[in-house]
Amino acid sequence: MALSLDKDWWRQAAIYQIYPRSFKDSNGDGIGDIKGITSQIDYLSSLSLDAVWLSPFYPSALADGGYDVDDYRDVDPKLGTLSDFDEMLAKLHEVGIRVFVDIVPNHSSNRHEWFKAAIASEPGSDARNRYIFRDGKGANGELPPSDWPSHFAPSAWSHESTQGGKHNQWYCHLFAPEQPDFNWDNPEVEADFLKTLRFWADRGVDGFRIDVAAGMKKDLSEPLRSQATYPGMNNPLTGDDVLFDRNEVHEVFKSWRKLFNEYSPPRVAVAEAYVRPERLALYSSPDELGQAFNFDMLEAYFSATDYKKVIDTSIKHSGASGSSTTWCLNNHDQMRPATKYGLLASVDRIRWKNSGGTTHPLDINGGIHAAVAGSMLIMALPGCTYIYQGEELGLHEVVGIPESEIQDPQYLRNLKADLGRDGCRVPLPWTSTGTSFGFGSGGSHLPQPKWFADYSVEIETEHDLSPLSTFRKALALRKTLQSTEEMSWHETGDDDVLHFSRPNGWHCITNFGGGFYNFGNLGEVVHSSQPLAQSGIYMAHGKMSVGGELPPATTVWIKA
Ligand code: GLC
Ligand code: CA
Repeated sequence: MALSLDKDWWRQAAIYQIYPRSFKDSNGDGIGDIKGITSQIDYLSSLSLDAVWLSPFYPSALADGGYDVDDYRDVDPKLGTLSDFDEMLAKLHEVGIRVFVDIVPNHSSNRHEWFKAAIASEPGSDARNRYIFRDGKGANGELPPSDWPSHFAPSAWSHESTQGGKHNQWYCHLFAPEQPDFNWDNPEVEADFLKTLRFWADRGVDGFRIDVAAGMKKDLSEPLRSQATYPGMNNPLTGDDVLFDRNEVHEVFKSWRKLFNEYSPPRVAVAEAYVRPERLALYSSPDELGQAFNFDMLEAYFSATDYKKVIDTSIKHSGASGSSTTWCLNNHDQMRPATKYGLLASVDRIRWKNSGGTTHPLDINGGIHAAVAGSMLIMALPGCTYIYQGEELGLHEVVGIPESEIQDPQYLRNLKADLGRDGCRVPLPWTSTGTSFGFGSGGSHLPQPKWFADYSVEIETEHDLSPLSTFRKALALRKTLQSTEEMSWHETGDDDVLHFSRPNGWHCITNFGGGFYNFGNLGEVVHSSQPLAQSGIYMAHGKMSVGGELPPATTVWIKA
């Protein structure tokens, strides 16, 4: 299947996120790899995807699941080689699936050759100037240079001696100490990332997911400003936060856009930017990255009010840049939606997770029904749909991973306050029996629970009503039902029910409540996330006809 040259192919795409280390292991070392992905092309194809996005597969010590990159222009030998990558890319392209790679520009790893050179060099040297080194405060420089916080540690500064440095300086890392931040005021850094983007675009990569896109540029003027002068992580509207969402970062993205536009079709990009909705339009403007993740849906609970509010705000803001919206219920940083929705909205999810799931009961099936209904709703909206691996199986979060096996630095570095994100990164169950449920022949790098047997690709393929079968049918239909990027709401007379339609007569109705909702007869029911329980006789279009009853936590698609 030849890929189209349509420059707008991405606007309403279905994109599947692969977390490579946990997708499929081809050589039995317990770690998913590139050949593993290639071996599952038929599976990916069965999902009618437009693209896959691969989380980092670059050489890395995995201090942060690969978001600590040693070399941006290579494949981790644990995951394969560049020629394995080329083979995977070619085979995905053959079946019409495009590929996004993850670019991590805010920080490298401490094993990157530039950082090793920086540590080995003198203060003030060119090598140090690619990162952010400063003298400490206090009589002997024994205190960090500023109060900047890190996501994975109390301070964003570590002393260079922790990395073998012989001088008395500190280096900045907004994430783990193994993730030193680049100095984006240094043109060498900017040039090197253009080289990286070109490296992958030349190989045929179609798009880029930009990690921490609101980071990179910082106010490095002396004396360093205090982060405490600002109320939140980003200062609304002005672009004058010390560390995030600064106006200067947009100059960088403008130069990236020029590079993307040299290709045919132009390469696309999507920003991971946790910023105010009003600021997001800058990142997603056609002169810059072109699209940005809309994360508000991640915060929403499974309720009609939450969903409606997020949908209205997101569509309004994406319209401001002329981009299309993105919808996702989860990713590799979030609790899986089946679990999120299977808990009462009032439950403190972090406490629940830290307790091994013992503080509150989890409605296992209710959570799955809600998650699948939520997915079918977002798939029907204008814009892109993102699916995170395992979501299509209705997987729940894995809780109770023994402390000795936890990998996430969020837990290890953040005073053990939050068990972290490993629970959504456990390798996928492909079969219901066998070593590591078919993930590989040599076990799995994070422990899989016994209940994974009930959620394997194998078993779910056999059942028409499984989450996987429901996703497959929905994604295939989505392609045929897709229309222009408008939607309109319809009154339902029920606070727990949302109903919208698209210009070509595709209706989507979701029942968020606990009772049944009678949707009358709008046309042909083409799909539903659960079987419709009953049907009755209703007045519709002026005549008596048979209509449907939508059970709790269910979405139905109708073609009028
Ligand atoms: C992004 C990634 C996350 C990572 C962080 C630091 O938020 O999604 O997994 O820990 O950046 O790179
Ligand atoms: Ca492997």
